[in-house]
Amino acid sequence: MAKELKYKKLQYLDRNESQYGPTPKCYEYLKNVKYEDLSWYSRDFEKGIKSSLSKRIANEFNISERQIILSYGSEDLLKQIIHYYLDRKEKILIPKEAWWYYKKVAYEVGGFNVEYPMYIGEDEGVKTYLYDVDKLIQIYERERPRIVLIASPNNPTGNRMTSSELRRFLDACRGAIVVIDEAYWGFGSTENDYVKPYIDEFPNLVICRTFSKYYALAGCRIGFAFAGKNLEELINYSTRYLGYNLISEKLANICLDDEEYYRKVAFTMQEDKEYMYDEFSKMEGFVPYRSYANFMLVNMPKSIRKDLKQFLKDRNMLIKFLDEEAFKTEARITIGTREQNQYLIECIKEYLRTR
Ligand SMILES: Cc1ncc(COP(=O)(O)O)c(C=O)c1O
Repeated sequence: MAKELKYKKLQYLDRNESQYGPTPKCYEYLKNVKYEDLSWYSRDFEKGIKSSLSKRIANEFNISERQIILSYGSEDLLKQIIHYYLDRKEKILIPKEAWWYYKKVAYEVGGFNVEYPMYIGEDEGVKTYLYDVDKLIQIYERERPRIVLIASPNNPTGNRMTSSELRRFLDACRGAIVVIDEAYWGFGSTENDYVKPYIDEFPNLVICRTFSKYYALAGCRIGFAFAGKNLEELINYSTRYLGYNLISEKLANICLDDEEYYRKVAFTMQEDKEYMYDEFSKMEGFVPYRSYANFMLVNMPKSIRKDLKQFLKDRNMLIKFLDEEAFKTEARITIGTREQNQYLIECIKEYLRTR
């Protein structure tokens, strides 16, 4: 290639990681980190709590600290929940159009997956995947799984369950452990009002969140969950008496203190998503899907996938060309900085012009 590359290093828009990084206050803390945070265990357990982070979350949500679970990211949470509750030959209900990871955990403990489908509709003029709550309830009643999992927003489709659908779904699935994976909470909405009433009303419910996505701490591996009152055994199983990662906990607290920084990033990303829906809609054979997360699913002609992948790679741009049962012609694009997003669109346009 004769032209000089815009990016000298590979730009990773393939794993839904933040391209903005956490609040700059995290770096200030890290520059001055104290040896106690590196060399000692937490002493919070002696105070009857898991950590200052779980206590803070409990206070902010007005939920007992006991019902806040901490973990090494939500991958760890999902694994713990499924490993704890799913016995051999038992079923977990998961979306067909889902994060590949859900599909593998049940097998680790000899259980198996039953999949429920989504359907495609429209959301304010943009195509979208939608939960089919009637179908989900029908499959639940037929299969009687031990665990039901939904993701809102869902990866890789980017759609979310509306609050009326969520209530209907929770009412119908009272007999199962219900897991709501909210790893992408924050990008579409920062609403929290439903958490306490649902955790109080549905004792078998776990709502999982993470600091990896909205708060941009994926490398620190820290997540948390709200657990309903029947899940006492899970709480005991997951509690770590020597504490968690003190540095990650401190960073998570710093992130929670700087909501202004994160709102600004989410606002810019929202504008960029609108720009990208618009641009992709104008490209022949491309269909973008509405996303409430930090990524976007785009359907594109199968015939160009291989070529386009190489074309982007040559320009140091990496997006995720999906190749799984439910997604053969789609790519999932992590929303990057404004500069990265615009460059990606320019590259794709250039490819389409010159191929
Ligand atoms: C839907 C979903 N849930 C959970 C996770 C795990 O995130 P973490 O373990 O970093 O919290 C991911 C990661 O990409 C994800 O896409």
